Amino acid sequence: MYIRQSSGHLKEELERRTLRLPLGAVQDLAKHGLKSLPEYFWRLPASSSGRFHSLEENKKAGLVLHTIRVCEAAEVLMEAWPPTFNAESVRLAAMFHDVGKYGFDEQPTEHTLKNHMRVGAKWLEEMGTWFHPPVDVLTVACNAIRRSHGKFGPDFPVTAEDWIIHLADMFALHKERLG
Ligand SMILES: [Fe+2]
Ligand SMILES: [Fe+2]
Repeated sequence: MYIRQSSGHLKEELERRTLRLPLGAVQDLAKHGLKSLPEYFWRLPASSSGRFHSLEENKKAGLVLHTIRVCEAAEVLMEAWPPTFNAESVRLAAMFHDVGKYGFDEQPTEHTLKNHMRVGAKWLEEMGTWFHPPVDVLTVACNAIRRSHGKFGPDFPVTAEDWIIHLADMFALHKERLG
């Protein structure tokens, strides 16, 4: 997949992905969720330290680029995975898995938050209370966000959705190693 790396294009690309969710509460949640993100989500790099992420993801709007890559990698993994997962939860989790990176205050945190998985999951959970998506879809998505760092994070993956998100994140992080 070729992605044009300018903040505007990346924003449009991520917004377009909300259309892959079914019409109704889940799509509304995703659309409103993206609109509610702090403006710095759209312009900051994926990591404040420059470690862990690929070069492109450490540039301006690298966090959005990384998010789109995780969304796409999750699509590929869903094609291969036995149909034991909820695709809505996976798409929701991929889209919002790193929204907590710089917190949600008016100003971004100086460094990316180590516990951004839990911060992001909590944010999406609260956002969900406004849209009433099916409880299981939201719960599974929030768990997958919380567990998205696999053995590198505090919450270990359990479900198929957790593993799909964690592996998608790993592939996006290490994109340069794939050539
Ligand atoms: Fe993360
Ligand atoms: Fe990530």
